[in-house]
Amino acid sequence: MPLVAPHELFKKAYEGKYAIGGFNVNNMEILQGILLAAEQERSPVILQISAGARKYAGHDYIVKMVEAATAKTDVPVVLHLDHGADFKICKDVIDGGFTSVMIDGSHHPFEENIAVSKEVVEYAKPRGVWVEAELGMLKGIEEDVVAEEHVFTEPEEAVEFVEKTGANSLAVAIGTSHGAYKFKGSAVLDFDRLEKIQAALPGYPLVLHGASSVPQELVEKANKYGAKIDGTTGIPEDMLRKAATLGVVKINIDTDIRIAVTAAMREVMINDPREFDPRKFFGAARDAVKELVAHKMRNVLGSSGKI
Ligand code: G3H
Ligand code: 13P
Ligand code: ZN
Repeated sequence: MPLVAPHELFKKAYEGKYAIGGFNVNNMEILQGILLAAEQERSPVILQISAGARKYAGHDYIVKMVEAATAKTDVPVVLHLDHGADFKICKDVIDGGFTSVMIDGSHHPFEENIAVSKEVVEYAKPRGVWVEAELGMLKGIEEDVVAEEHVFTEPEEAVEFVEKTGANSLAVAIGTSHGAYKFKGSAVLDFDRLEKIQAALPGYPLVLHGASSVPQELVEKANKYGAKIDGTTGIPEDMLRKAATLGVVKINIDTDIRIAVTAAMREVMINDPREFDPRKFFGAARDAVKELVAHKMRNVLGSSGKI
């Protein structure tokens, strides 16, 4: 099946109160693991590519690999740009075959964010490409920009932003953050704020970034085999389920994939120090990604069986 734009998928997800995973792809095994999970779970899926991933693998490699992987699949697959920093990268990937882009102007002042997001919408819409924008700022690192504190999304500003930009969906800041160290104490998300944003923008699709749960069993497994990943916290799975009932149709997961890959590769290397066939390491990583993503689709996002 050719790549699809997510318009219909998100409409169904909004109505059905489930979310579709935006899973970050960096190499062949991660891509294969995600797609194997989507096929097993009969779930739509969003493959998302950051600027860093595009640089690491190369635009043509990524696109050709995704095309090869999806040519024979019967599940709907969206190819999405994660955290596009400016108009140029959004234009480049739209011209290069992506079906969805994120323009991340969240670090700019409000009016500048509106201007750059609108520019991308004007280029993408006539080409049938979906545009996700962001308002508010997540604590932590986003594409080399470090924010010391959250800047939560204001519902009234969200309405003005959506009206002025015409963006198809909006990533909101309600307390999630990127990476494996999300909370100092216990996990808190501002669901009141999310409800207010949903009420202010009825029927409008919202997006949650920084939504890895950082499963402790995977962290412990990685550490058992020599990693030193300490003090991690993620978003509890029940909070993600709840968000999916409040207008959030896309939930982004990258960190959990990274930890699953790290734990699986370390296990093989440590258990058999004489092994040096890379397929053993990368194959174990692919299996681990498949297992993780299938779990997300079935037990967290609610997207299993929705095609
Ligand atoms: O939002 C950030 C994603 O986890 C992508 O990370 O820019 O290191 O590929 P990256
Ligand atoms: P995590 O770091 O929580 O996996 O978030 C990923 C993300 O938001 C990618 O855009
Ligand atoms: Zn993100």
